[in-house]
Amino acid sequence: MTFRNLETADLAGRRALVRVDFNVPMEDGRITDDTRLVSALPTIRFLSLAGARVVLLAHFDRPKGRRTPEMSLKPVVEPLAALLGAPVAFADDCIGPDAAAVIEALPAGGVCLLENLRFHAGEEDNEAAFVEALAANGDLFVNDAFSAAHRAHASTEGLAKRLPAYPGLAMRRELDALDAALGNPKRPVLGIVGGSKVSTKLDLLNNLVAKLDRLAIGGGMANTFLAAQGIDVGASLCEHDLGETAREIMASAKTAGCELLLPVDVVTAEEFKAGAPHRIQGLDAIGPADRILDAGPETSRRLLAAMDASATLIWNGPLGVFELSPFDAATVAAATHAAALAKAGKIVAVAGGGDTVAALNHAGVVDDMTFVSTAGGAFLEWMEGKTLPGVAALEV
Ligand code: 3PG
Repeated sequence: MTFRNLETADLAGRRALVRVDFNVPMEDGRITDDTRLVSALPTIRFLSLAGARVVLLAHFDRPKGRRTPEMSLKPVVEPLAALLGAPVAFADDCIGPDAAAVIEALPAGGVCLLENLRFHAGEEDNEAAFVEALAANGDLFVNDAFSAAHRAHASTEGLAKRLPAYPGLAMRRELDALDAALGNPKRPVLGIVGGSKVSTKLDLLNNLVAKLDRLAIGGGMANTFLAAQGIDVGASLCEHDLGETAREIMASAKTAGCELLLPVDVVTAEEFKAGAPHRIQGLDAIGPADRILDAGPETSRRLLAAMDASATLIWNGPLGVFELSPFDAATVAAATHAAALAKAGKIVAVAGGGDTVAALNHAGVVDDMTFVSTAGGAFLEWMEGKTLPGVAALEV
């Protein structure tokens, strides 16, 4: 993939339209996790220092083309200004005279945020007239929102095709990390895929078995693989109707030379709650009322050994019900070990998607991993091997 380089771009006095992902978790109008704001700061500061007028474009939630006051981006302005240490102006609309006036009033290096793109249906429809209306306010386009790059929207794909387009610094960092994990990795490569359902990760599993040297399957989805081999998983979460699919994935893994690591022991409880009485069991002893809530210690030991034997780790999804202690043990053990190896420079460890970030936060190791993506759907689609329209449109 070849991209234009922001560092050699002519920026002074130019209006840079910068797509960021400020779709942050919010409760009662207050941001509860500002990671996405923080990750946009390097690009904003870089452009600002270069004398550009920085025009931030973002969506919040899914207003479906309607102006929806509770989905305004206004609550983001003050927290962003505080993080940036500089004022951030706000325009009540992302196109038209309101936006133009706010941008016109910006000094060189000034920053403004425009109201939620998705208040206009043209955004999600990638409508040509809406792309034109956005483009009228910019001289160049910077996309720093990897986590929205799986959407072919006006502000991701449309603008990239309409204006000279650059990946932002966070986007570049993310693409480099993903390339090091799956595009062009050092081998052997180990994958860990967890989470509750096989059905939501079919494309992902099929893509990974074709690319990885080893793939560990954990969480509820491992139960479907165990059941597909005739193991009685009792009252555990299991997609019994996907037995054939699981067997096909196992066969593809074999053909591709990808070793599958499935649980060899499990932690079961009869109740789905924190502190529930539990047992470590072999796979031949699971009773009808037992629910598998975590991988067992021997499974963990094997997974840690597989990490030791790998140069690269790519991880999506927890290995057990990590929200309920003590069923977080396998996830925490794996996260702690991966982070220690990454910190020691022995492995490239990249993780992301869905509740993976929450699981790694729970283990307290996010900062020691090589890279943790806060992208949800975009990370999964990339792991599925799909082309992300917002990235493809930036290529030259
Ligand atoms: C996200 O939060 O994953 C991105 O901002 C994309 O949001 P969307 O799923 O509403 O397109």
